[in-house]
Amino acid sequence: MIQIVDDFFEKEELKKIQGYVKKGLPYIPRYFGKELVRNKETYYGMRFSLKHDKDLADILCRQAEKKFNIKIDVIDPDSGIDMRNLDTLKPHTDPAAANVLLMIDGPVAVTNGTVFYTKRKDEDMKDLDIHIGFQPNRAVFFPSDMTHAANVSPVKDMRRYTCTLFLWQYTDQWGKKYYYDRDKECLTIK
Ligand SMILES: [Fe+2]
Repeated sequence: MIQIVDDFFEKEELKKIQGYVKKGLPYIPRYFGKELVRNKETYYGMRFSLKHDKDLADILCRQAEKKFNIKIDVIDPDSGIDMRNLDTLKPHTDPAAANVLLMIDGPVAVTNGTVFYTKRKDEDMKDLDIHIGFQPNRAVFFPSDMTHAANVSPVKDMRRYTCTLFLWQYTDQWGKKYYYDRDKECLTIK
């Protein structure tokens, strides 16, 4: 189930985070498909991995716990801040139990948010289903096996900052645990 909150951080905290991610963190280029082929088609965008900044990771996780009423047990250390390339739609699922996507800074528009498809992992490609517009301080929680993509934008070289926490293990408000089994590449619920 997709959940959206539009007031993830308090105003002052958001300003601090926006300033921090825009002041030149060492972003590096990332590619889809296990990084095996690096070209324009596989280019994902620039990422600053949260494993290099535990304090920022903690702030983001604690706030996600509060806003989505979950307990985060383990995140992918490669969760991070992204400056995305928005030339082409790249529908995909992510190797995690759930994603927390936080829109940090960028132009408010319906064309530069995130889209979801009716397809789930291992099913045939289906149609565009849900479209969530970009708005700073909006956060979206969703199961990682929902096929999704950053929407394409007609604005050239647009800077759009987002953060994704890939939750490998979390507990919901009823105490149910969700694990991503990295060996079997599947979600287990206990
Ligand atoms: Fe993703």
